[in-house]
Amino acid sequence: MVRKAVIPVAGLGTRLLPLTKALPKEMLPIGDKPVIEHTIRELVDSGIDEITIVTSARKDLVQRHFAPDADLEEQLRTAGKGDLADAVAELSSMAHITYLYQRGPYGNGTPVLNAARVIGDEPFMVLWADDVFVAEVPRAKQLKSAYEATKAPVLALMPMAVEDASRYGVPVVEEDLGGGRLRISGLVEKPAPEQAPSRYAAIGGYVVTPGVVEELEAATRRWHENPEGEIYLTDALHRHAAQHPVYGQVIDGTWWDTGSPLNYLKAQFAAALADPAYGPELRRLARESG
Ligand code: G1P
Repeated sequence: MVRKAVIPVAGLGTRLLPLTKALPKEMLPIGDKPVIEHTIRELVDSGIDEITIVTSARKDLVQRHFAPDADLEEQLRTAGKGDLADAVAELSSMAHITYLYQRGPYGNGTPVLNAARVIGDEPFMVLWADDVFVAEVPRAKQLKSAYEATKAPVLALMPMAVEDASRYGVPVVEEDLGGGRLRISGLVEKPAPEQAPSRYAAIGGYVVTPGVVEELEAATRRWHENPEGEIYLTDALHRHAAQHPVYGQVIDGTWWDTGSPLNYLKAQFAAALADPAYGPELRRLARESG
């Protein structure tokens, strides 16, 4: 069973600077909710409500968004705004969130290892909080089902245009098992398009097993002997895949990668258009502005 998830948020959000100098990229709104709230709701909707956020002192707004605020709730209730009070209360009650300060070498494998040391010997999900999915079955649930079926590490994948390969981890596909499930024999991090081993992108969702964590431990030990480069989750999965089964699950749904300014604006626009509360009026505005 996958019962727990990890969301690393300690990154600097460099691609969105200077917008993200004070405001964490995970707190940028998509529709009327910050990106990280979409991620947490997706996990809760997938039956995973024990969530570790690996953070840094710069990202205290994330913590504040999910912290209980009895004073605000009481003021809203006194003012007769019970619905708003309930919405505020829901933020702090929808999941069991623990926070951990990231510590160790640079690279996206480090927060995963930090969290694994607390979670212990069980598989867990890792989601980067810069993608938003609109899917009938949440992406996290699709990933979880793939793990239940394979009992092996799984990566969320989406088809990509080959010219985008240099932005993503790209899997080496060994076998297509049908239903969007692929057996993966390796992963190449951000290859040049002509070197891309497939037309799929790893899109920041993983089920990590203790075997993958061992690879992260080993990479961190090597780094301490020779402190060069970064610790990547992709490398740990690649090494694991050389000896053990690893799978990819092509996600059924629409994917918005919010990590660059243009993609963020597109995601924001699409989410607002898809929302019945705002869509019709925004469509009218878009038509009027030509
Ligand atoms: C990370 C991973 C990469 C993956 C991407 C998905 O890269 O290293 O394999 O494809 O997330 O968003 P980043 O976007 O942090 O550079």
